[in-house]
Amino acid sequence: MRVLGIESSCDETGLAVYDTERGLLAHALHTQIALHAEYGGVVPELASRDHIRRLVPLLRQVMGASGCSLAELDAVAYTQGPGLAGALLVGCAFAEGLAASLGKPILPVHHLEGHLLSPLLAQEPPEFPFVALLVSGGHTQLMAVAGVGKYELLGETLDDAAGEAFDKTAKLLGLGYPGGPALSKLADVGQPGVFDLPRPMLHSGDFNFSFAGLKTAVLTLVRDKSEDRPDFPADVARAFQDALVEVLVKKSIAALKHTGMQRLVVAGGVGANRQLRQALNEAARKRRYRVYYPELEFCTDNGAMIAFAGAMRLMAGAQPRPAGVFAVRPRWPLNELMGA
Ligand code: KG4
Ligand code: ZN
Repeated sequence: MRVLGIESSCDETGLAVYDTERGLLAHALHTQIALHAEYGGVVPELASRDHIRRLVPLLRQVMGASGCSLAELDAVAYTQGPGLAGALLVGCAFAEGLAASLGKPILPVHHLEGHLLSPLLAQEPPEFPFVALLVSGGHTQLMAVAGVGKYELLGETLDDAAGEAFDKTAKLLGLGYPGGPALSKLADVGQPGVFDLPRPMLHSGDFNFSFAGLKTAVLTLVRDKSEDRPDFPADVARAFQDALVEVLVKKSIAALKHTGMQRLVVAGGVGANRQLRQALNEAARKRRYRVYYPELEFCTDNGAMIAFAGAMRLMAGAQPRPAGVFAVRPRWPLNELMGA
């Protein structure tokens, strides 16, 4: 079976064709980073308009690269939520219209399920069950994953998401958008231990997170800055990253222990963070757990994970529905998918 996947929930337009026998046939992506950079963050209306501009050329590109025709598709999968309402609506209207014109059925996909399953696109995919650490710009969650559609939420952030904390802290340090990669690069040249920032909820005994206080601690440091050293921002970035990484690693290991599972799967944009990967690998190796990551290009938003999640749903027996329902779900808790 061949599934076309369409992602447009935020600032990336992604399309891909996944074949359940041959794997990923092609994927194409346009990122809007340059478009939003001068505003220091995503401008929803600009995002929607850009998705409109990009979808048709990207569809042509991905179909050409896949070597199959639109008529040879079995279903169209698209991100129905969560995300920016306008951006989602563009992808929805495009996918529903395309599928209706082709007489193909639709598979609405939950964006986080796409991230969650994205490590299965790697060369050496993990087997079920596993604990998933989902760390994106909008979400930070630990989940026990028994199979496709079988997700148990173990804990999540009570305020800012990990990526959001990276982005906001980067802004405080005067770095551009998106802040995560820039902050991470700066932290690489910072001295560890110069500043001691809080590790929020490290000992809370549950699997929840809170990162807003960490960002506020950075704000205080930056405001009270008495030193004018050139390496001050790098040392602050390092302290921030050390604190955040320590919390993510400790809670992930605790979740593995709690569930008795052996595999940890890391997904979402922050999963691209080098220091997080290093620390997770180190902690897991000591305890004989195994950690899996998506390919770097599939850490952040992309169409491949949506085509793949749709295909996995089909393989698991999900019934695609007829095209023509123009509805998105900007807020859509993942636990509503359980058993769906
Ligand atoms: O998964 P994603 O593309 O978007 C959402 O679904 O939210 O993740 C984007 C987030 C942004 O907050 C970005 O700053 C962060 O992932 N990010 C990183 C890195 N690369 C992307 N954060 C830390 N280190 C990185 N290398
Ligand atoms: Zn995402």
